[in-house]
Amino acid sequence: TRGDMPTIDPLRIVAKEMKFLTGNIRKLLGSGHPSLDRAAKYYTQAEGKHVRPLIVLLMSRATSLCPKTPQRQQATLQASAAIDSSLSPLSVLSDFNPSATPESESVLSTDPDILPSQRRLAEITELIHTASLLHDDVIDHSESRRGSPSANLEFGNKMAVLAGDFLLGRASVALARLRHAEVIELLATVIANLVEGEFMQLKNTARDEKNPQWSEEALTYYLQKTYLKTASLISKSCRAAALLGGSDAATVDAAYMYGKNLGLAFQLVDDLLDYTRSGQELGKPAGADLELGLATAPLLFAWKTMPELGSLVGRKFEKEGDVARARDLVMQSDGIEQTRALAEDYAERAIAAISIFPDSEAKNGLVEMAVKTLERKK
Ligand code: FPP
Ligand code: MG
Ligand code: MG
Repeated sequence: TRGDMPTIDPLRIVAKEMKFLTGNIRKLLGSGHPSLDRAAKYYTQAEGKHVRPLIVLLMSRATSLCPKTPQRQQATLQASAAIDSSLSPLSVLSDFNPSATPESESVLSTDPDILPSQRRLAEITELIHTASLLHDDVIDHSESRRGSPSANLEFGNKMAVLAGDFLLGRASVALARLRHAEVIELLATVIANLVEGEFMQLKNTARDEKNPQWSEEALTYYLQKTYLKTASLISKSCRAAALLGGSDAATVDAAYMYGKNLGLAFQLVDDLLDYTRSGQELGKPAGADLELGLATAPLLFAWKTMPELGSLVGRKFEKEGDVARARDLVMQSDGIEQTRALAEDYAERAIAAISIFPDSEAKNGLVEMAVKTLERKK
């Protein structure tokens, strides 16, 4: 359906802001303690995809053209004033590191339709995401991330966990400085949601049974978990971006629905790539989900037509040969295709959600992000 449409590069639309992202994040993470400093900044070295900040910046630009709410505009002005006066490193940074000099490049990259508070929000989303990766790699005993040794492998579990906590602490300070209570509440909820999603995943299914039967409930549980683990951060930060811009209620809701559906599509694709790509291609271990005992969408769809998967799910693929057998059954089934179809469905819903936005380059960028989510290979 893409026909002869010129290719849109979402990154180009907010390139100026993206250029300063990693540098600004590293400034937010400065610590006077050299080994904490190193562990905290470790995942900012390798080039991540920066999907979440990219979406926040595109959403900020796209909603700048949408209708505004008068009271909200007041909060917006407050948020912008607060961020302008704190763009020099957070004062806590200079407390820890007296030699830190105030830097202001981040102010120089100002784009008229993206507010400083929205740029800071983009940085906060990446900080929260990176914190969750530090913790996730400990929980998953993962040995690689973004094509390099994982932080837990490099620094050990204790330091990796503490580095994640430090990122959350600094993200919270930056968030508080936005002086926007509703936005603070949204992002604080995201942090809780990440933990809730991870807990649901540890339990894997709602009920503990030896030989569970397939039921719609298994899929509902998986989707709820996926919302908490992945889509909550994307959707609530899209909502926060619209709020910071002073958008009206319909725009704020549309931004949220875009993020929610995109987030679900994103994780569904992630879960199918775990089956279809190699570790080399992904820059992180492939086939990891079954090894971790996790039944994700491809398996849940396969299970519907292959009841023998039930006992394997029940014992979390722990018995010798279970992982290989489950993998074979999934590959023989239409589980991958069904997962892709569901991801396409969510991507379409994401695009439909922002159809009320006036046409703009940034809106096209958001549409392209949904298309790219389906096409991505890593
Ligand atoms: C990656 O999933 C992990 C997440 C999206 C969230 C993990 C959340 C926690 C560990 C909760 C506590 C953390 C914080 C900071 C609140 P994955 O393991 O499926 O992906 P991967 O293949 O990239 O490792
Ligand atoms: Mg993991
Ligand atoms: Mg995990």
